[in-house]
Amino acid sequence: MNIRQQLNDIFQTAMTAAGLPAECSPAVAPAKKAGFGDYQANGAMAAAKKVGTNPRELAAKIIENLGEQPMIEKVEVAGPGFINIHLSESWLAGTLAAARADERLNIRKADDPQTAVLDYSHPNLAKEMHVGHLRTTIIGDALARLLEFQGHTVIRQNHMGDWGTQFGMLLAHLADKMENQDAEVALKDLEVFYREAKVRFDEEDGFADRAREYVVKLQGGDEDCLKLWQRFIDISISHAEEIYEKLGVTLQRSDVYAESQYNDDLPVLVNDLVDRGIAVQDQGAIVAFLPEMADKEGNPSVVIIQKKGGGYLYATTDLAAIRYRANVLKADRILYVVDARQTLHLQQAFTVARKAGYIADSQTLEHCAFGTMMGDDGKPFKTRTGGTVKLAELLDEAVERATALVADKNPELSAEERSEIGRVVGIGAVKYADLSKTRTNDYVFNWDAMLAFEGNTAPYLQYAYTRVRSIFRRAGVEPSDLQGDIRLGTDAERALAIKLNQFGEVLDQVAKDTFPHVLCTYLYELASAYMGFYEACPVLKDGVSEEEKVSRLQLCDLVARTLSTGLNLLGIETLEKM
Ligand code: ARG
Repeated sequence: MNIRQQLNDIFQTAMTAAGLPAECSPAVAPAKKAGFGDYQANGAMAAAKKVGTNPRELAAKIIENLGEQPMIEKVEVAGPGFINIHLSESWLAGTLAAARADERLNIRKADDPQTAVLDYSHPNLAKEMHVGHLRTTIIGDALARLLEFQGHTVIRQNHMGDWGTQFGMLLAHLADKMENQDAEVALKDLEVFYREAKVRFDEEDGFADRAREYVVKLQGGDEDCLKLWQRFIDISISHAEEIYEKLGVTLQRSDVYAESQYNDDLPVLVNDLVDRGIAVQDQGAIVAFLPEMADKEGNPSVVIIQKKGGGYLYATTDLAAIRYRANVLKADRILYVVDARQTLHLQQAFTVARKAGYIADSQTLEHCAFGTMMGDDGKPFKTRTGGTVKLAELLDEAVERATALVADKNPELSAEERSEIGRVVGIGAVKYADLSKTRTNDYVFNWDAMLAFEGNTAPYLQYAYTRVRSIFRRAGVEPSDLQGDIRLGTDAERALAIKLNQFGEVLDQVAKDTFPHVLCTYLYELASAYMGFYEACPVLKDGVSEEEKVSRLQLCDLVARTLSTGLNLLGIETLEKM
């Protein structure tokens, strides 16, 4: 029930009938201001320019060719050649009734379901998860949920960093610790563990050499060493899973496909790139030169595929991963929810993969880049003492703060209710604060802003949901019992109906462009349209006719369901009571 698409098709047909060439697009969009209809077709001006005619006359001619359209009440030409479209009330009411009757709010699944590989979260296992992993985890999970809802097959790939020379130092330290304690105990705090190992590496005589021996043994496939490494990895993954659980993120252990899984393929890949002439020997290393990514002076971009001495790099693994995702996982889309600071690295990997033919023209490689999380001081978010903020602690603080707020707002709550609401609001606030910002920008992490009950925040939307639901408790009816027509007699009801109807097109847009803030903005606007409706149109007051009440309650029900479905796609929970 994507209205925009349907109108676009109708106007496209009318434009063809009016004799315009196929490349002229009607450019249908929701009307920006009240008084200009519900939607607008803005394509007449560009089309008139193309064929050399008067835009207002052309707009009129397009309208003449519209034919009978049940969706449309009336159209008019405005300004230099805009076409304002007023939707038919009975048609609108019909779409709402259909949405009510359907579990999925009548949101159609994609006509062309795709396989999307989604690379997100991907912490480095040598360290505890910190705020640097928050954005990728939250944004990635929202996209995964949304694409799945749209009927696509989503293959989550948690490309964890589980390999590299730093594991020599960590394993040497772990081996020593395990002389008198369990691995679990030793690795309880990965941050502390890492710091201890680093100090020994820098200061203790002979330790660095032992660390290097461990690297050699690990890479050589020494069995004991691999066992120890596996132990380390398993415990680290459990730490990450605790965070996923707290955050309400859908990632499972089976989604872990870590860097080490590509090890066996790396020598094969390097040979293949050389055979294909994509990479060449250069001063002992194997290098790909990319004239297509040349700098301003015309120097080609350089990607080292294998170091002098034989070592592989981050880029080598990523090329192997692309090949695997394209050929084995058969991805139509491969999405990387990765920090914007890795743009060059990914563009290089994408370019090499395309040149080598590892990926077909029909398969896309998309970098869903995001900016940095900043502190109030405008610098990357750190603890007061300048350390990295552990994700586990950040989430605990969010829940604590939200619980205190909730207790303040509603002292009647039982301790149990308070802590459950605090959890849902606190975690929701952190996630929504991130998702609601245009992901490519940096954003300032601010507790007060994200926990505010006013404005475009999770608490505001969660509370809006609860308030709508409370109407049903007060009315003593279940939404499923409501029967009768939906009427859209007032402007506020009409505005709300159109907003409700836009849910489908918003989801389509987010699935395509991968910007979750578009969905957040929509939900916020929906909640605002609901407030406007609620003020203008009494639902339960005396003097409201039974028909009116039933109609309005149906609108309330659709608002509640759209809010909870939308928030759920963002990975945010709602509550019946707050
Ligand atoms: N583990 C990497 C890091 O922490 C991110 C991996 C991103 N994914 C990828 N395929 N390169 O920087």
